[in-house]
Amino acid sequence: MLLSGAAKSQLLAVIFTIVSLNQVSCFSFNFSTFQPSDEPDLNLIKNSKIYLDAIQVTPDIRGKIADYSGRAFYKRPYRLWSKSKNQTAEFNTTFVLNINNQTSPGGEGLAFILTGDIDLPENSAGKWLGIVNATTNGTSQPGILAVEFDTRQNSEEDGPDNHLGVNINSINSMRHVSLPDFGITIASGINVTIRVMYAEDVISVFGSMNGTADMKTLLTSPPLNLSSYLPEEIFLGFSASTSNYTELNCVRAWEFHGTQIADDDHQLLWVWIAIPAVVLVILGGVIFFLLWQRNRRMKMSDEADPRIEDQIQYSSMAPKKFRLREISKATGRFSPQNKLGEGGFGTVYKGFLGGNEVAVKRVSKDSRQGKQEFVAEVTIIGSLRHRNLVKLIGWCYESRELLLVYEFMPSGSLDKYLYDDKKLGCKDGTILSWKTRRNTIYGVAQALDYLHNGCENKVLHRDIKASNILLDSDFTAKLGDFGLARTIQKRDETHHSTKAIAGTPGYMAPETFLTGRATVETDVYAFGVVALEVVCGIRRGNLYSQVDEYKNNIAHWVWELYGKGKLLDAVDSRIRKEIAEEKVADVLLLGLACCHPNPHHRPSMRTVMQVLTGEAAPPAVPKERPAFVWPALPPSFSHDVDSSITGSQFTPFLPDLEFTGR
Ligand SMILES: *[C@@H]1O[C@H](CO)[C@@H](O)[C@H](O)[C@H]1NC(C)=O
Ligand SMILES: *[C@@H]1O[C@H](CO)[C@@H](O)[C@H](O)[C@H]1NC(C)=O
Ligand SMILES: *[C@@H]1O[C@H](CO)[C@@H](O)[C@H](O)[C@H]1NC(C)=O
Ligand SMILES: *[C@@H]1O[C@H](CO)[C@@H](O)[C@H](O)[C@H]1NC(C)=O
Ligand SMILES: *[C@@H]1O[C@H](CO)[C@@H](O)[C@H](O)[C@H]1NC(C)=O
Repeated sequence: MLLSGAAKSQLLAVIFTIVSLNQVSCFSFNFSTFQPSDEPDLNLIKNSKIYLDAIQVTPDIRGKIADYSGRAFYKRPYRLWSKSKNQTAEFNTTFVLNINNQTSPGGEGLAFILTGDIDLPENSAGKWLGIVNATTNGTSQPGILAVEFDTRQNSEEDGPDNHLGVNINSINSMRHVSLPDFGITIASGINVTIRVMYAEDVISVFGSMNGTADMKTLLTSPPLNLSSYLPEEIFLGFSASTSNYTELNCVRAWEFHGTQIADDDHQLLWVWIAIPAVVLVILGGVIFFLLWQRNRRMKMSDEADPRIEDQIQYSSMAPKKFRLREISKATGRFSPQNKLGEGGFGTVYKGFLGGNEVAVKRVSKDSRQGKQEFVAEVTIIGSLRHRNLVKLIGWCYESRELLLVYEFMPSGSLDKYLYDDKKLGCKDGTILSWKTRRNTIYGVAQALDYLHNGCENKVLHRDIKASNILLDSDFTAKLGDFGLARTIQKRDETHHSTKAIAGTPGYMAPETFLTGRATVETDVYAFGVVALEVVCGIRRGNLYSQVDEYKNNIAHWVWELYGKGKLLDAVDSRIRKEIAEEKVADVLLLGLACCHPNPHHRPSMRTVMQVLTGEAAPPAVPKERPAFVWPALPPSFSHDVDSSITGSQFTPFLPDLEFTGR
C-alpha cells in the first residue's frame, strides 16, 4: 500500500521532530497563578498547600503559624548537568513572591531551591528556612542551592534584615546583598518579582517590586559551578520557615525555561522504539483510514440507491447470487479478449463458470438508469422459465459492480444473419434457411406469448429487436436483454402499460411517440417488424425507400409491395428458391397485421401463435396501409376477428392507463 502525500509529509514531520528533540529541547512550565487543579504538577511537602491563588509554603492553617517549615517543588525532575555529555543546562526562571509579616519583624524567610532531595529536613524551622538543619548545615550532604530571601537577621554572619543570599548546602550565604539598597522590601505584603538565571557557570538574580516588565535590576551574579555541588538531576522549588517571628510565605506565580540535556541511553531507546512505533501507528492509521473511507464510499453508494440487494432478494424466484471474485475469474478479469459485445447498459463478456460457457453482462458503473434496469432484469427474467427466453443463471452486486450471468448463446444475435449485404452480414457466411427463419419467428412468438399471457405477472419486454434475439448452437431463437422489461402486477390489474420512452427506433409503434407508453400492443408491433426482417432480410442502413423519409421503414416498404400485388418480392433473395409461397405470404401478412398503425387492430400474441401453427387464418390486411389515427378507434367486430380477443382481454383496463415499474 502506498502512502498518500499528506501521510508522507506527516511521517517526515514526526521523524524530523524526534531528530530535532535530540539536539535542543526545552524544559519549561508556566504558572501565572496557582489553583488546586495545579496540585498534580506540584509536590507540596508537609505544610505547604495551594490557597488564595498561591503556594502557601508555610500556610496559616493551624491557628498558630510559628516554628514550622515547608517545601514545594515542581513535580518533574530537571537534568541540570550531564557528566557523560560534559554539558550543563542553562535556565531562566521568574517568580512572584508575596511575603506578609505577621510579627514585627516577620520571620524567618523564603528560598528558591535546587536539590536532589525533596524531603523537608527535620528541625528545619526557624533560622534554617527549610533548607538544612543543625546537623546538615555546612556539610555536602544536603546537596542544595538556595537563593534565600531572608527577612530577619539571626546572627552576625547572617546578612541584615531583608537580605538576599546565594547559599550552597548552608544557610550561610556565599554572597548576600541588602535589598533595601535596591528599593525592595520583602516582607511588605507587596508582590516582589524575582528572576534567577543560570548560564555559563554564573547565577544572576534580578528583582523588582514593579512586576515582570521591570527586570533590569541585577541584584547579584556570583560565578558558581553547580555541577560541583548538585546531583545531575535536581528538583526545582521553594522552601520557607517561621519561628517566634512569623510571616505568610506565598509564591503567586512561577515561570521556568531551561535547556534540556537528553540522556544518551534514553535517547537511543526513544529513537529506536519510538520511530518504528510511530511509523507503524501512522501506517496503520493511514491504512485504516483508507479502508474505512473505501468502505464508507461503497456503503454510501449502495445506500444512495434503492437497496438493490434487498429488491432482488425479496423477489421469490431470484437466481443464484455470485461473488465478484468468481465472475472476475470466470471472465479472465473482464479481459478484452473475452468481450462478446457492447450495448447501451454495458459490456458482455464470455466466461467459464463451473465448466460451462456463460455470457456475463457487466452493467456500466455510475449509471442510475443501469441499476434500475439491473433490478428489473434480475427480478423479472430470474422468475421466468421458457425455452425461448435466454436463461439468467445468476447475478452479482458487489463493489459497485452490477453483473448478470446468462447461458451462453454460441451462434450470437439474429441481426447478424439478416443483413442482405454480405460484407456486413453474418460472420461466417451462414445463410439462415427458411425453416430456421420460420422456427425463429415461432420461437420469438412463443416467448412473447409466454410473457404476455403465460406467466404469473404480465411482462412487457419493451425492446424486441433482431439484436436482442439470440441463437444457440442449433439456432433455436431465445429472447434476451430484459433491461427494459417491466412487469404488470397481477394484483394491481389496472396497470397494464408502463411509461418512460424506451425502445429502438424502427421497432417502435407509431403511438409510442405520442403516448410514451409501452403496452402489449407495442410489443406486438416490434414483433411484427422482427418477423418482416426475418423473412425479408435487413436492408443495410434500413433503406427501404429512397424517396420518402417517412416510409423508410420495413413495414411501409412491404405494405407498398403488397399493395402492388408483389408481396413476395420482399422476401430475402437468399431463400426465395426454397420457399413454399403461400406459407411465406402468410407470415408476411401476419407481420403486416402486427404493424398495423392502429394498436387495436394488431393481433394478440395468442392469435399470432394460432396463425403460425395453422390453427387460424392470417388476419385480413387492407391493401393500403391504413393511416395512423389517434386516439385509436376501438376495433369493429366485422373487421378483425383477433381484436375481439385483445379487446376482451384488455379493454376493461384501458380507461386507467397507469404505469408500473417505478
Ligand atoms: C567539557 O567542556 C568544557 C567546556 O565546555 C571543556 O573546557 C572541557 O575540556 C570539556 N571536558 C571534557 C572531558 O570533554
Ligand atoms: C527569561 O525569561 C523571561 C520570561 O520568559 C524573558 O522575558 C527573558 O527574555 C528571558 N531572558 C533570557 C536572557 O533568556
Ligand atoms: C537533620 O535532618 C536529617 C535528615 O532529615 C536528620 O537525619 C537529622 O536527624 C536532622 N538533625 C536534627 C538535629 O534534627
Ligand atoms: C565545574 O565542575 C565540574 C565538576 O567538578 C568540572 O568538571 C567542570 O570543569 C567545572 N567547570 C568549570 C567551568 O569550572
Ligand atoms: C520563642 O518564644 C518563647 C516564649 O514566648 C520562648 O520561650 C522561646 O525561647 C522563643 N524562641 C526563640 C528562638 O526566640
